Amino acid sequence: MAILKVLTYPDPRLREISKEVKKFDIELKKFSEDLLETMYAENGIGLAAAQVGELKRMLVIDTRPRADKESRRYPDSNMTDLEQKIIQPLVIINPVIKKFRGKTTYDEGCLSVPSFFDTVERHEWIQLEYCDIQGNKQVLETDGLLAICIQHEMDHLEGTLFIDHLGMVSANKIKNQIKKHGYPEKKKVLKEES
Ligand code: CO
Repeated sequence: MAILKVLTYPDPRLREISKEVKKFDIELKKFSEDLLETMYAENGIGLAAAQVGELKRMLVIDTRPRADKESRRYPDSNMTDLEQKIIQPLVIINPVIKKFRGKTTYDEGCLSVPSFFDTVERHEWIQLEYCDIQGNKQVLETDGLLAICIQHEMDHLEGTLFIDHLGMVSANKIKNQIKKHGYPEKKKVLKEES
């Protein structure tokens, strides 16, 4: 396994559209393990293949509370019933949201825009169709942080970042700060980034 380099905004590769995965082989399995290892090493709750420069429609997710996270909005007891039923970590390939309902907001962060957070609106509940690492079709239904994280990661497959969902003022504030000062040195992660 290997820890991969996570690309950061404004790297133009983060703006590319990822391609459907057609070959489910041992290489893909190994890559999914690298993605998971990278996500855990970076203290993230989700990571899309595009964030490490691989334009595959593929993401890994683990939104379960972890011991090293102190300021989670959704502590263990607040995981919704639907979330608790889903076995994590998840490797999600060629995902499609088939149904959705409701609205929710969350203070999102991103490993590709490290140390910045802002409020983004998402569907509250989603039904997702995807392939697992063996290439088998799966369907899951969830809400809570897991639903938010899936929608955030799926944006990466279209070259979209959470800052694209913000109003001009908030987005420009973040972009200008990055332009002027770059990213801070690796700091203690206080909130989850994906
Ligand atoms: Co992200």
